[in-house]
Amino acid sequence: MTETKAGFCMELADKLERDGNLTDEELASVLLCDDPRFGGYLAEKARDVRERVYGKDVYLRGLIEFTNYCKNNCYYCGIRSGNKNAERYRLSEEEILSCSDLGYALGFRTFVLQGGEDPYDTDERIVSIVRGIKERHPDTAVTLSVGERERESYQKFYDAGADRYLLRHETADKDHYGMLHPENMSYERRMNCLRDLKEIGFQVGRGMMVGSPGQTTEHLIKDLRFLKAFASEMVGIGPFIPHHDTQYANAPPGTAEMTLRLLSVIRLLLPEVLLPATTALGTVDALGREKGFAAGANVAMPNLSPVGVRGKYLLYDNKICTGDEAAECIRCMSMRVAGAGYAVVQSRGDHIRYRKGEAGAGTVLPAASPEA
Ligand code: 5AD
Ligand code: FES
Repeated sequence: MTETKAGFCMELADKLERDGNLTDEELASVLLCDDPRFGGYLAEKARDVRERVYGKDVYLRGLIEFTNYCKNNCYYCGIRSGNKNAERYRLSEEEILSCSDLGYALGFRTFVLQGGEDPYDTDERIVSIVRGIKERHPDTAVTLSVGERERESYQKFYDAGADRYLLRHETADKDHYGMLHPENMSYERRMNCLRDLKEIGFQVGRGMMVGSPGQTTEHLIKDLRFLKAFASEMVGIGPFIPHHDTQYANAPPGTAEMTLRLLSVIRLLLPEVLLPATTALGTVDALGREKGFAAGANVAMPNLSPVGVRGKYLLYDNKICTGDEAAECIRCMSMRVAGAGYAVVQSRGDHIRYRKGEAGAGTVLPAASPEA
């Protein structure tokens, strides 16, 4: 019986690697297969594919969490506006630029500016920060993760030199989106933002939490279809982890096992994708990030924020790496990457279809293989 089940799922994994796609029913079987041998088999397939495209390289992103003020009230998030217990902070432009100087000296060639949707962050402020980093470190990529904005704002950020944008779609199911967010947030607006970002020319990161409240296998399949349909350049996934000051404080967390399985499936669906082994994965499992690299992930995002504020950017409980100096964090991460059999490289680590010249002009190369 077990033989049959494992054999059946392994054949599906072979098909996924070969065709880059499966039917919904087949995807469900891959996600739900509980044979203990199957996860390892799937991960091996995903590793083969990532090594074919990106070799053994792991790209580093220096994460600068520059504000935890947020006007949104997403029900799952520890820094939502309704959480009066969150201790708020905002880094000055000088502080952000000195994080980038430190990061550059440590070898980072991508900086991710991540923050809540802070009304203090006018377009002009974001533009000035992007320009500041690019002037000091022209050979770096700047990724923004500052939420939903008008198309004109995104265009200004791109024109200022920003290369990439992370905006997780959170869920590709409208009703599920409504369950996770208050009424003043809209699924349509999220989708419009993602479309605008792509049309402007950013390398765009989408993604979702694994095991978020109310999430079903059908939702995950919709997410996978969505990620594939938009040929996402980057996909950020991590387990949902409850935060004590939210209405989902007692909801069960997502598992490392399901996150790893999804990482592998995403690698097989989108062979060229940039896929981080996230901090949330390292939080639910002490070896989660190593396992993530072994399951198809090829990006790591060590924290570059000043130690004084790290413990305040708390989207969920028990977050790791909140007490470590940047230099310590990069050393630790490099060891973890090496432990998984990979090597950290000092490079911008662009998506393989994107190349940006020194003058900042973006060139999108044609896809190596057609993606539905
Ligand atoms: N657990 C895990 N991930 C979370 N995020 C927000 N809250 C949580 C949580 N409780 C994720 C969201 C968001 C990203 C910045 O962090 O997916 O897009
Ligand atoms: Fe941050 Fe280990 S990766 S301390």
